[in-house]
Amino acid sequence: ATKNITVIGSLNYDVVTTSSRIPQAGETIAATNFETHNGGKGSNQALACAKLRANGTATAVRLVGCVGADTFGDNIKAFLTQNGVDVGSVRTVGGGVSTGVATILVDAASGQNRILVYPGANGAITEMDITDALSSSSGDVVVLQNEIPIKLVEHAIRAASTTDSTIVYNPSPINPDFDITLYRHVSCLLVNSIEAAAIVAHEPELANLITRDDDPDQALAAIGPIARYLGLPRHIIITLGAQGCVYLDNSPGATANQPVHVSAKKPTNPIIDTTGAGDTFLGGITAQLAEGNDLSHAVNVALSASAIAITRNGAGDSIPDYSELVL
Ligand code: RIB
Ligand code: NA
Repeated sequence: ATKNITVIGSLNYDVVTTSSRIPQAGETIAATNFETHNGGKGSNQALACAKLRANGTATAVRLVGCVGADTFGDNIKAFLTQNGVDVGSVRTVGGGVSTGVATILVDAASGQNRILVYPGANGAITEMDITDALSSSSGDVVVLQNEIPIKLVEHAIRAASTTDSTIVYNPSPINPDFDITLYRHVSCLLVNSIEAAAIVAHEPELANLITRDDDPDQALAAIGPIARYLGLPRHIIITLGAQGCVYLDNSPGATANQPVHVSAKKPTNPIIDTTGAGDTFLGGITAQLAEGNDLSHAVNVALSASAIAITRNGAGDSIPDYSELVL
């Protein structure tokens, strides 16, 4: 059966400069490119969910969050609307608070990035915003990340867990204050290897199993113990950049309780900007699960989509449509 998707999270204005290398402290170097893009993990993930649906509007996608009363906020809402995301639950906050801003440095050689995020209006979301949104989301897939205050992420997980929602959680950027007892309500946990390592950093036996490296063998060995430690009821996926991902269906009675490594798809164009690749991956997974497909198909869609996103500039603006995928 098809489910609707409610994403609760951030909207940012991304200010992106590209250079041949990243400057050291005290150093100034000339950038080779400057662009502004629509971003923010909540916004990117909602967009990716909408664009990576195979059956269009049979699955509705809605974003819950806050922007400032400024042109950044107006532009990003218009962009989301054009791409099929319902922004009726994106609230504009007054008082001169700016829309969130991400300052992004892209290394031209590798396409890799460093990001500084100023939360701005993303810090103004309230329990009421979330409670209101969840009151009409029964049965939805509810998607969360960590670019809104962590207490509100926790509130949303607690509230969603009392309904029949399916929770997809991407704890990025990782926040050490998150109440780890809440992972047991998360139906699908998506982490990269840095986040996976951070989650188990204080558990010696687990911490030894995984480092920050995108090593598939490490992820294969660590994923089951991590799933059990967190009490995850269903899916966990560890993304590994150029090494693809490792996933596990931990549900009792699942036929395939063994972890699976799937290699990344080879991009058909040069890699120029990996910003938003993780958000694109999450959108592929979530849209496909919401449309009733199984995890292995969802992973295939997600890897195909992120292999395209890294060959395009920007985060939200680089997410492909389902029709562009090579599956
Ligand atoms: O995940 C990528 C996003 O992280 C960027 O769009 C930027 O806004 C930061 O939030
Ligand atoms: Na990109």
